[in-house]
Amino acid sequence: MQTHASSTKLAYLGLLNAISLAETRAGVYLRAWADATQDEELACTLRLVAARETSHGQLFCRMLGELGYELRQKPDPDGAERIAKYANPKISDLDKIGRSRRELNADPFAEIEAKIAESFYDPVTANMLSWYICEERDSAKKLRSAYDCVRAKTDGMRQKSSGSGHSTTAQNTPSADAQAIMACLADGFARLEKKLDKVAARAKA
Ligand SMILES: [Fe+2]
Repeated sequence: MQTHASSTKLAYLGLLNAISLAETRAGVYLRAWADATQDEELACTLRLVAARETSHGQLFCRMLGELGYELRQKPDPDGAERIAKYANPKISDLDKIGRSRRELNADPFAEIEAKIAESFYDPVTANMLSWYICEERDSAKKLRSAYDCVRAKTDGMRQKSSGSGHSTTAQNTPSADAQAIMACLADGFARLEKKLDKVAARAKA
């Protein structure tokens, strides 16, 4: 069903689809983490961000429908393992924060924002992407703060148990910003951008 989409729109359907899938997945595993943790402060932030992620997944799915397309589900071979990990109360919050997230060196939204400025997207999609990016950055801040609290509590407990006042945890973990942003993008933005490029190439062919 592609009757309403122009060739320009074709160039970013892949991005909208990938965002919807990644956000929906992030909503599920963040909610599972919230339900598993004993840290109510962390759970509160995770629930808030999970609700946003779920909402983003639904809204980008709706946007695809408005453009005349349907969401295309993609295999998520790591999904079951991811949920099992985040839903497991025996795995520490610190492990969930610090592992299975990739370091992020660049702003994942920079390219999208540049394309918004170039009027690459239709006005409604551009507006939604701008709003989405704003929420993602705010979620990243909230998660960064919550993760910092978890690290501080863990450091405090380690110092208590070891009697030592020295810890290297903060220096050895990836940057909190990177982790927080990546928490919102279950599969990473590199894949989203690759998909966008592929769809754009097909549209030009
Ligand atoms: Fe997100």
